[in-house]
Amino acid sequence: MSIQLDPRLSLVASFVRPGRVLADIGTDHAYLPVFLVQTGRCPRAVASDLREGPLQNAQQTVREHGLEERIQTVLSDGLDALAPFCADDVVLAGMGGILIAELLARASWLRDPAVRVIAQPMSHAEDVRLWLFQNGFTITDEACAVDGRHCYVAMAAQYTGEATAPSPALPYGGLLFGRGDEAAARYLNQQLSRLQKRHDALLRAGKDPGEVERLRAVIEDFERRMHPC
Ligand SMILES: C[S@@+](CC[C@H](N)C(=O)[O-])C[C@H]1O[C@@H](n2cnc3c(N)ncnc32)[C@H](O)[C@@H]1O
Repeated sequence: MSIQLDPRLSLVASFVRPGRVLADIGTDHAYLPVFLVQTGRCPRAVASDLREGPLQNAQQTVREHGLEERIQTVLSDGLDALAPFCADDVVLAGMGGILIAELLARASWLRDPAVRVIAQPMSHAEDVRLWLFQNGFTITDEACAVDGRHCYVAMAAQYTGEATAPSPALPYGGLLFGRGDEAAARYLNQQLSRLQKRHDALLRAGKDPGEVERLRAVIEDFERRMHPC
């Protein structure tokens, strides 16, 4: 029985380099590593989770597909219990962006140009992008997947050692500004409307003038990037 991935996890899977060893952090049912090993895209994988319950789900999926020899399951808070360089491509999917940025910050071996980080934040994607920019990573690819009413973002990044100070809107749209496809446009429009709502609510309430000013600069830069002349 082969695993079918939904559009979100299919997008994440497309960022994993063929022939590379995968680590899937926060794996839950291990659908991603089982799919990637079963289809031959990855020779081996590490599937890890913080909690016993999800790890047992992962172990069951691995067992059902007879992949115990090729997928190792590990109980771990982020990458803490993983051996450094146990994988080439490290996925953190289906978690909030603030948590993803915290987990990336704790794993110093990711700061190696040979390792690819793949993040699929369910919220606060700007925190992931900002952390990557400020910590010497370059976002090499980024795309969105639509599933029903939801629009998901995923990005791939690699360490270059050159930290950058992004323009105001870049953490909010990343490489999606240059993509021009329907899914990216939908994501960018949702982001812009969220930023505008937050800006207008603070302005109306007469709160936090510094944040109002910051959001205004983000929105102006965002609109320029969405509609370059
Ligand atoms: C919503 S599930 C996502 C599962 C899968 N990655 C996906 O994208 O479909 C989030 C998983 O992350 C795990 N998780 C949360 N915090 C974690 C941490 N600090 N370290 C490792 N896993 C964590 C949860 O236990 C849960 O299984």
